[in-house]
Amino acid sequence: MIFAAILAGGIGQRLNSDSPKQFLTVGNKPILIHSIEKFLEVDDFNKIIVSSPKDFIDYTEELIEKYFPENDKIVVIEGGAQRKDTINNSINYAIECGADEDSVMVTHDAARIFASPFLIKKSIDYAIEYGAASPVIPATDVIFKSITPNKLDSVPLRKELLHSQTPQSFNIFKYKKIYDDLNEEEIEKLDEAMVLFNLRGEDVYLFEGEQSNFKITHPFDLELAEFILNK
Ligand code: CTP
Repeated sequence: MIFAAILAGGIGQRLNSDSPKQFLTVGNKPILIHSIEKFLEVDDFNKIIVSSPKDFIDYTEELIEKYFPENDKIVVIEGGAQRKDTINNSINYAIECGADEDSVMVTHDAARIFASPFLIKKSIDYAIEYGAASPVIPATDVIFKSITPNKLDSVPLRKELLHSQTPQSFNIFKYKKIYDDLNEEEIEKLDEAMVLFNLRGEDVYLFEGEQSNFKITHPFDLELAEFILNK
């Protein structure tokens, strides 16, 4: 079975708006609705699991009923405290739905509204082939590492640096087996969910992402998205 987890359990602090960013309107529709639409264009999914902050679950359900009436693939669940917890809630839901050892989860940031259905399909195919896969794009800027505020500590080689994107996909049982084996310290340090594969010597296959697949994070990104949609 193939599951999608549209991750919309965050609050969008960096956008500094009244409601979580996934509910803001861009191009006449909420951000969340744009990203769900992209996933509905791919036929492979048995279920599309949409997460939501606890206080917005009813609202998310209303939105889905409004934009996708009669659609029985989409379900709403409660997100977790951090992104990795929202992924875990989505995985647990998929297991309750009967995910088996071949099942794949495709996780996607709701705030990336321009991921193409082609990219989503590629992510599924690579996860089936390699067990875990993520789109990436090469870093364009030189990246400074600064641990002490206002002080340059080191400069990693740019050609080794990539921006990770979503949809990131993986075998559900493989992910869960590794996660359940992590100790508290490893879970605490798990800043980016996909790195858990590396913690147990498993590879994540990286493939070319899309420049347009940026994550709406700051107010400028919202303006850019509006501009692209109105073009
Ligand atoms: N996300 C989630 N559950 C969380 C935190 C984040 O599902 N507990 C989701 C967000 O809703 C978003 C995606 O993960 O679609 C990418 O995270 P990010 O852009 O960092 O979103 P926020 O955490 O909402 O933003 P910020 O860091 O500015 O607060």
